[in-house]
Amino acid sequence: MRRRISMLAGVAALGLTLAACGGGGETPAEDSNAQDASGNVGVFTWWADGSEKAGLDALVKVFGTDYPDVTFDNLAVAGGAGSQAKSVLAAQLKAGNPPDSFQAHAGAELQDYIDADQLEDLSSFYTDNDLTAQFPADLVDRLTVDGKIYSVPSNIHRANVVWANVEVLKKAGIDPEKPAEDLEGWFADMDKIKATGTIPLAVAGSWTQVQLFENILLASLGAEGYNGLWDGSTDWKGAEVTDAIKAYEKALSYTNTDRDSLSDWAPATQLVQDGAAAYNVMGDWAEAKFAQDGDKPGVDYVYFPTPGTEGVFDFLADSFTLPKGAPNPAGAKAWLTTIGSAEGQAAFNKVKGSIPANTTAKTDDFSEYQKSAIADFGQDTIVSSLAHGAAVPVAWLNDLSTAVSKFGGDKDIDTLQSSLGDIGEKFAK
Ligand code: GAL
Repeated sequence: MRRRISMLAGVAALGLTLAACGGGGETPAEDSNAQDASGNVGVFTWWADGSEKAGLDALVKVFGTDYPDVTFDNLAVAGGAGSQAKSVLAAQLKAGNPPDSFQAHAGAELQDYIDADQLEDLSSFYTDNDLTAQFPADLVDRLTVDGKIYSVPSNIHRANVVWANVEVLKKAGIDPEKPAEDLEGWFADMDKIKATGTIPLAVAGSWTQVQLFENILLASLGAEGYNGLWDGSTDWKGAEVTDAIKAYEKALSYTNTDRDSLSDWAPATQLVQDGAAAYNVMGDWAEAKFAQDGDKPGVDYVYFPTPGTEGVFDFLADSFTLPKGAPNPAGAKAWLTTIGSAEGQAAFNKVKGSIPANTTAKTDDFSEYQKSAIADFGQDTIVSSLAHGAAVPVAWLNDLSTAVSKFGGDKDIDTLQSSLGDIGEKFAK
């Protein structure tokens, strides 16, 4: 299924592309070296503002120290989870106008780019930098296809975390240190919060609703049942998924009515910070926002795995690529070298709320939350995030997002389930 072009054809094609776009790279990507890097390196991400940009800035600072002769060109396109960036990037790649490096999620999303023959093989880069042994084997597996490895991971995020406002919980008579164990118990807590006149659950539009749905699927079906949705072994049209959709409908009933008009995750998390809502289910990039806004864990906010998902780590990892036809492959390799390094990972992840993918990075000054995430990642069952490109290809996620978003309006359980089933049949391998 994976398209390959011969080495010779690949080099010839690359030469043509470079000539066509007049890029500074005379040297083919495989012969380019980070130590020869100069000029601009254009890096495409969706870390355009707020705490996410702060994370990127921390990484760029290390890059500037590592490679003072290379200028970082920030090509970020705003929109959490790449909601705008991915289509912009797709158009640029299609037009033969790739950046020097772009952000892609480890797992199915990366596979899309590999299948489309848009990425350089970084196996020799891994060997030269002795990287394989520095990343968790599970993660390296998700980055490897047919024995080749195509990107350098910058971090590991967790998508099944609830962030809660301590005062709001106390006011409703809920012990912030004792989260509910399952969805039923959690909904009972939400009833108590509703009775105080506060919004129980904050969510924003589009992808944040998909991430909430993903969490409810995981809590309802368990790790095995959830995993089975992606390989066809769990029946999308079965009774268990009906129950999960009913639970999702109930969860939505506790959310802010203006959810579709909140453009991104940060305004939803902000509702919890402001005490206007009790809970927000969000990836642990939210930890970065709490920390940067000066909120204190245990005092202002608490966090816990989404009830019903304790012991499961809903995983995603950002990684960076060297696209075929990149104008400055040596500059891209310099960028990838900083990203893979223990220093780059420590500086970036400390600010980003995630945990380093590089296990040799120093984390003693990381937050309490991040230390708990490191421990959990080491012992929990790992599953792949739906909303963040780990579980399914972009086309599957897009179709599913449309169906979930429609459900937010019509609450038609049968229609959602049959759409999800049809989408699953179309894409499951
Ligand atoms: C994820 C990404 C995270 C964070 C989040 C919110 O897809 O992996 O690093 O940026 O979106 O934008």
